[in-house]
Amino acid sequence: ESGMFTYDPGFTSTASCESGITFIDGDAGLLMHRGYKIEDLAEHSDFMEVCYLLLYGELPDKDQKDKFLHDITYHTMVHEQLIQLFRGFRRDAHPMAVMVGVVGALSAFYHDSTDITDPHQRMVASYRLIAKMPTIAAMAYKYTVGQPFVYPRNDLSYAENFLHMTFSVPCEDFKISPTIARAMDRIFILHADHEQNASTSTVRLAGSSGANPFACIAAGIACLWGPAHGGANEAVLQMLDEIGTVDRIPEFLARAKDKNDPFRLMGFGHRVYKNYDPRAKVMQQTCHEVLDELGVKNEPMLKLAMELERIALEDPYFVDKKLFPNVDFYSGIILKALGFPVSMFTVLFALARTVGWVAQWNEMIGDPSQKIGRPRQLYTGAPRRAYVPLHKR
Ligand code: SDX
Repeated sequence: ESGMFTYDPGFTSTASCESGITFIDGDAGLLMHRGYKIEDLAEHSDFMEVCYLLLYGELPDKDQKDKFLHDITYHTMVHEQLIQLFRGFRRDAHPMAVMVGVVGALSAFYHDSTDITDPHQRMVASYRLIAKMPTIAAMAYKYTVGQPFVYPRNDLSYAENFLHMTFSVPCEDFKISPTIARAMDRIFILHADHEQNASTSTVRLAGSSGANPFACIAAGIACLWGPAHGGANEAVLQMLDEIGTVDRIPEFLARAKDKNDPFRLMGFGHRVYKNYDPRAKVMQQTCHEVLDELGVKNEPMLKLAMELERIALEDPYFVDKKLFPNVDFYSGIILKALGFPVSMFTVLFALARTVGWVAQWNEMIGDPSQKIGRPRQLYTGAPRRAYVPLHKR
């Protein structure tokens, strides 16, 4: 029977869907959302516009943008009861563990937007998720550091509001630098969507059974957490910490190349890109801008990362295997400079990717050819055999 199926572990050559949202040419290092290059969006657009673009297929005009901002900000608060849920976690819980739990629990708070057969309810659920993710992510941070939760402010931009909820405390005036807010917004744009990556495929597979959107996004968050995927931004910083100084780079490169050593260069390599990840370029440039703005000259970690990149890209192993820095390589250095603890890095990825997840989920549910996702297998277990009673085993 096994001959009936194509066997493609890791889906390296299997398309799981038709999609009109994001296009990647891995050999050229090209990424486009709805036909717009990521570099253009990162330079000229803002995250709310990119959200609208991913959800609706076009950039908004002025009225559409105003309405979208109004509708998103309408949903920024979370149900007050959710605070009790946060308090059930240990203070030292990893914020990604908290995110999986809290976002999954949203379906228990917002029953009125879980009917996936109704396109309007699907959009309300999508808006709720995009609007509430910064609030929940900031709460996850506040809970770990033991500070009071900060309510959203709808007069601020999406990125500013997130920085406000994360870093402001009631006893002090909090000022957000426009460069920092712009950098945060750009980081969100760079993470917004990336076609059928593991977490998006997880959201689609979960959604294909008709599960509610909040549960599906929680599944996506769980998948993103792994160090081979979104968890790599956290792992990059841990790796740079471990390497410590430029003179130890060759030793770690040798380990990355050694098949008997499980160590891999975190933030390097990609299933689709066999060229520079265009997001990593913008990220590196943003990194310089942020460090300049913060007055950090010669940040040793950035120097170490750039030196690591330079040496790796001259090494035949990385050249032959076409291993380049990916989106996660430089993001952690910026996030650290902005004051985020390492454990929050993947949470920020999840926050920004939420729009991609809901856009892809909406596209799938609205597709009449959609079926439940149900891969087959090649059975490798025992052949049929007779049952042996316990006393004879
Ligand atoms: C993200 O898919 C997406 O779009 C994801 C993402 C998104 O926006 O959603 O772009 C976000 O997840 C970025 C990737 C973050 N992960 C890391 O940085 C972790 C380190 N990188 C990898 O483990 C790896 O490169 C993957 C997981 C990203 C890709 O894995 P593949 O496509 O399954 O490739 P592979 O592991 O089979 O590698 C091919 C070869 C192997 O050598 P050979 O067995 O052929 O001799 O390249 C080697 C690997 O050993 N290799 C590496 C390496 N990555 C691959 N060697 C050393 N260091 C590395 N980082």
